[in-house]
Amino acid sequence: LESGCLSIVVLGASGDLAKKKTFPALFHLFQQGFLPPNEVYIFGYARTKLSDDGLRDRIRGHLGKGNEASSEFSEAVSKFLQLIKYVSGSYDSDEGFKLLDKEISLHEQSKNSHEGSSRRLFYLALPPSVYPSVCKMIRKHCMNQSDLGGWTRIVVEKPFGKDLSSAEELSAQLGELFNEQQIYRIDHYLGKELVQNLLVLRFANRLFLPLWNRDNIDNIQIVFREDFGTEGRGGYFDEYGIIRDIIQNHLLQVFCLVAMEKPISLKPEHIRDEKVKFLQSVLPIKDEDVVLGQYEGYKDDPTVSKDSNTPTFATAVLRIHNERWEGVPFILKAGKALNSRKAEIRVQFKDVPGDIFKCKKQGRNEFVIRLQPSEAMYMKLTVKQPGLEMSTIQSELDLSYRQRYQGVTIPEAYERLILDTIRGDQQHFVRRDELKVAWEIFTPLLHRIDDGELKPIPYKPGSRGPKEADELLSRAGYVQTHGYIWIPPTL
Ligand code: BG6
Repeated sequence: LESGCLSIVVLGASGDLAKKKTFPALFHLFQQGFLPPNEVYIFGYARTKLSDDGLRDRIRGHLGKGNEASSEFSEAVSKFLQLIKYVSGSYDSDEGFKLLDKEISLHEQSKNSHEGSSRRLFYLALPPSVYPSVCKMIRKHCMNQSDLGGWTRIVVEKPFGKDLSSAEELSAQLGELFNEQQIYRIDHYLGKELVQNLLVLRFANRLFLPLWNRDNIDNIQIVFREDFGTEGRGGYFDEYGIIRDIIQNHLLQVFCLVAMEKPISLKPEHIRDEKVKFLQSVLPIKDEDVVLGQYEGYKDDPTVSKDSNTPTFATAVLRIHNERWEGVPFILKAGKALNSRKAEIRVQFKDVPGDIFKCKKQGRNEFVIRLQPSEAMYMKLTVKQPGLEMSTIQSELDLSYRQRYQGVTIPEAYERLILDTIRGDQQHFVRRDELKVAWEIFTPLLHRIDDGELKPIPYKPGSRGPKEADELLSRAGYVQTHGYIWIPPTL
């Protein structure tokens, strides 16, 4: 592992993302010893005029994770906050970035300098509109000191553009300043425990190898539901909508890991090569394979336009042209203000041929990977009903994490991903060509929505979404099992 001086610069330090996600993730890494105080310094940068303590006060309240009362915790908090320095400046002027560079250099020089002592990580907790100017300034003034070795890395987060051409333009702008090895595009779903488990599950278990294809699988759903609306972020959301917010990135990444071929190795480039290849085999999305929805009351938000055509719900069936998946529909579904909050992958198998047990009535085998909440994997099976009669019922093999891994804390997605950026592992980050294909898949549909050619169907907040989406689901071949429900075990 590398050692030497590490400067983490959070740009947009006074904003929401930094406060809620970036700093807490850094704190958890610090608590676990991944950010040794003799090597690491954290710089906050933003336009707001603030003192170091001003920034620390803003962050303090967001660092907790249940054990706030203990003295050990408050000691860790104050040690962590001592590592933070604030620099104020604008996002496009030389002055601010020169000052930032000066501060970072001072820190680097104050440590025993040796090879690799200038590692600089810039985390852009900022709107993408300022990425180009900020990156230009970093490139011009803040690169690592080459005589000390080390590296400079940039972390950015979606939205990476609004469609294929704007995304390509942004990629080109950043690409002129930094090479691909220096750019870390975060998709935080790739940092979730059960998403990271997908490759292991698929390729380390003999059991799944012969089953994972069109011969055995009837359809696959990848579902994201939230039981709250867009309150507080209507302005952002209305410009983007659910497809850009969730489906084109988070669900598509999960989709890749569920369906791509086995990579040559676990090297980041090998994995990302497979994702790109798989995404290139997705067929254009047809209108009849899409249902859009907008919850009633969405437009009451003063930051949302009164005649907004933005979907807050979408189901899209993706079809794949390759040997493994031809004919198997992948149903990607995401919605806000629904009846529950969960994200899961549901693999439904085909009916049993030559059935003698009336399996059809019982329902099909399903393998469900529950990403959140209550991480779990369970396999729905038909078994003999215990007792004297020869009758069958639906049951499950259940691996519920809370029960199976008691006392294990599952790390937050951001925590893991930031650690990867420090270690230089790009496996769980989106590569430029991958982003491009992702936009190619959805851009025609998005343009039709933006132009008002496709309209969302209203649905009641707290419902399952438009009933047309359930109809599309059954048209795609999904068979619901009535009278069976999996209940997460309680401890
Ligand atoms: C973000 C979206 O990327 O992911 C939000 O912009 C969404 O709209 C969030 O709420 C969901 O993340 P998680 O980790 O809570 O499932």
